[in-house]
Amino acid sequence: EKGGYDHFMLKEIYEQPSAIKDTYRGRMLVDEAIIKMAGVEDNMKKFLNANRIIIVACGTSWHAGLVAEYIFEDLARIPVEVEYASEFRYRNPVITEKDVVIAISQSGETADTLAAIKLAKSKGAFVFGVCNVVGSSIARETNAGAYTHAGPEIGVASTKAFTTQITLLTLIALRLARANGTISSSDFRHHLIELEMIPEKVKKTLESEAHIKMIADIYKDVHHFLYLGRGYNFPVALEGALKLKEISYIHAEGYPAAEMKHGPIALIDENMPIVVIATKRGHYEKVVSNIQEIKSRKGKIIGIVTEGDVEVKALADHVIEVPETLESLSPLLTTIPLQLLSYHIAVMLNRNVDQPRNLAKSVTVE
Ligand code: M6R
Repeated sequence: EKGGYDHFMLKEIYEQPSAIKDTYRGRMLVDEAIIKMAGVEDNMKKFLNANRIIIVACGTSWHAGLVAEYIFEDLARIPVEVEYASEFRYRNPVITEKDVVIAISQSGETADTLAAIKLAKSKGAFVFGVCNVVGSSIARETNAGAYTHAGPEIGVASTKAFTTQITLLTLIALRLARANGTISSSDFRHHLIELEMIPEKVKKTLESEAHIKMIADIYKDVHHFLYLGRGYNFPVALEGALKLKEISYIHAEGYPAAEMKHGPIALIDENMPIVVIATKRGHYEKVVSNIQEIKSRKGKIIGIVTEGDVEVKALADHVIEVPETLESLSPLLTTIPLQLLSYHIAVMLNRNVDQPRNLAKSVTVE
C-alpha cells in the first residue's frame, strides 16, 4: 500500500507530479487558453461582485491560503484576507453578503474551519470550498466548491494536499483575472503553459533527494531552524518550518526574510541553520542581501535557488536547485525540497514520520 516507499509521506511527496496534473486535468485547456470549473462558472457573478475574498483554513491549508492571497491580489486584483479559522469564528468578524469566503481543507472535517463556514453563511456570505476528501462535511456545508483531486493523503504531515491546493487556487485566480480583465490574454496563456510544465519540474526537483539527504545528515542534531522567504515564498517558509516541527520535533520558525532585522537576527550564530528561499525573480537581490547579513553573523545557509544560480551559491553553505518558473508558480517547486529535508531529518531521528506524536490527521475537535 505504500507502493514500495518506506512511508506514506514519501510516497505522497513523490505523487505530486501526478496529483498536480489531476488537479488541472479537464479544467485547464492550454491549447484553447481556457480555464473552466463548474463551481466557479456557476457563481461567477458572486466572485466578480465581491468586495473581498476571505480565506479561512488551519495549518498547512492556511499556508496555501496565504499563497493564494498573493496570487489573487496580484493577478485578479481582488482584495484578499487570510484568517485562521479558529480566530475568525470567535472574533465577531465583519462579514456581509458582499463577501466571498473560500474555505480550504484537505480532510474537509476540520472543526474550526467548519464552524467558520457556518458563521460566514449565517451572515449571508457566499462560501466556496477547496477540499480534497470528496463528500466531506466541509464539501457538503459550502455553497459551491472544487476538489483538489490529490487522492488519499495518509501521512499526517500534509504534502500533496498543499501543492494541489495551490494549483487549484491558481486556476481560480487565473479564471477570475481573465473575467475581470486584469490579465492580458498573452499573460494568461503564458501562465497556463508554465503551469502545465510544473509536474515535470517537480519531478526534476525530486531528483535532488540524495543531495537533500546529505544536508539532512549534517543538520539533524541541531535544536533550532529558521526558514526565510519573501513574497510568494514567504508562506513556503512558514510551511517548511511547520513540516520540520511536526515530524522531527525540532523547533523551527518561518519568517518573511525582511523581518529578520526586527528581532530574529539576534538568534543567529554558527549553530543556526537558516533555510532561505532565494529563487530568481521574486526580490532576488533583496534576499541575497539578507543572506549576506546572515553570513556575516556566521549562520549556516541552506539556499533554495534557481538552476544555474551563482550569487547565492557563492555565499551559501549548501544550495538545492529548482527549475526556473514564474514567480507565482514557484511555491509549487520550492516546497518540494523543504518536504524532503524534513522527511529525511525525521527518519534519521527515528521519528514516527507518518503519525507524529500528539497529532491527528484531521482535527475534528477544537
Ligand atoms: O484537513 P485540513 O486541511 O483542514 O487540516 C488542516 C491542518 O490540521 C493540517 O494542515 C495540519 O496542519 C497538518 N498536519 C500539516 O501538515
